[in-house]
Amino acid sequence: MEVIPAHLEYWLRDYYFTCEFDISCSGVENFSFGELRRLFNITPDDLDRIVLRDSRTLGDPDLRTAIGNRWANGKAERVMATNGSSEAIYLIMHSLLEPGDEVVVLDPAYQQLFSIAESSGCKLKYWPLRFENSFRPDLAEARHLIGPQTRMIVVNFPHNPTGASLTPAEQDGLIDLAARAGAYLVWDAAFGELTYDGPPLPDPGERYDRSITVGTLSKAYGLPGLRVGWCLAAPEVLERLVQLRDYTTLALSPLVEHVATRVIENGDLLLQPRLSQARQNLELLLSWANRHSEFVSIARPQGGVCVFMRTHGVADVEYFCRQLADEYKVLLVPGTSFGQPNHVRLGFGCSTRELTEGLSRLSEHFHKYRQVQPYVTPIHQTASPA
Ligand SMILES: Cc1ncc(COP(=O)(O)O)c(C=O)c1O
Repeated sequence: MEVIPAHLEYWLRDYYFTCEFDISCSGVENFSFGELRRLFNITPDDLDRIVLRDSRTLGDPDLRTAIGNRWANGKAERVMATNGSSEAIYLIMHSLLEPGDEVVVLDPAYQQLFSIAESSGCKLKYWPLRFENSFRPDLAEARHLIGPQTRMIVVNFPHNPTGASLTPAEQDGLIDLAARAGAYLVWDAAFGELTYDGPPLPDPGERYDRSITVGTLSKAYGLPGLRVGWCLAAPEVLERLVQLRDYTTLALSPLVEHVATRVIENGDLLLQPRLSQARQNLELLLSWANRHSEFVSIARPQGGVCVFMRTHGVADVEYFCRQLADEYKVLLVPGTSFGQPNHVRLGFGCSTRELTEGLSRLSEHFHKYRQVQPYVTPIHQTASPA
């Protein structure tokens, strides 16, 4: 199998640990272990009692129950706890797809959601999200792509990197298309609870038995370093994932499982403050973008904490972002990491202080850059989002 390099991860390896202002991230501001201990009353005695033995393949029963209660209508039997949702995605793709299978994926998208299938020899069909439509997914286009030949549909709403999402009626329409095709519907809900225009979309698993949901504590809960994610699926599907896990990670650590269980049982204590911060930061970002319309255009996100900002007059966006990181210590992700030059991914989930300083430095960089590189309007950049 040819492993296709994950561009975003290469970029982050270069800059994540050296930048001082991270306005690139797809998750909310991270929590420390001290904060978790205080918020969830995790005592030294609780930790001392944990025996570091092997855990169960599908996850500790208390953790599965906590995940099931919060995200799967109490159905713990549909839960597999994983080392981040990336493990869930890896297991799903490798267990359920065969070379030659047709897979419908979003474009742009988080690379893991399509590159594993591609490197396994699957045939990808792209459902495009276009800046000109404010990245709104067009169900009519999906209708043309999905049919009896489709083995799997992979989506992520709210979406990384654009923040686009579906309405509940569009979600119904998509489930309907998947059901008619008899295809697996992989529903990546990494940002499911970070919504601005309405309540989170329901889990498709309630309505369609070939739907597989993945979730994570890394994004909306500010705990990417805990490495806890999950997969919600029919027990027969989980059984197939277990076969592959026996050759990879085997299980989670009991220490991690304990902390994750305590967190998930009272998840709103982490989610709600970060969601209010994200709402406030979004307004700040939109007003900044308004004042910098000669440099950037933004399509307002419906969820998540990032936008895929279109840049104006930046000839080489990767070079621009490298300069920003080296000279201003500000981290952005160039659109090339998502296969789209002339864009950058900007994350607003960080602290308001970090966002404010990051934007101010970005503004300075744009002004200086413009002095050196006068602006010429490329033909494809003349449209702006609704
Ligand atoms: C859409 C999406 N899904 C899954 C992941 C994987 O995250 P994790 O493995 O930390 O849960 C990411 C990470 O950026 C993502 O953006």
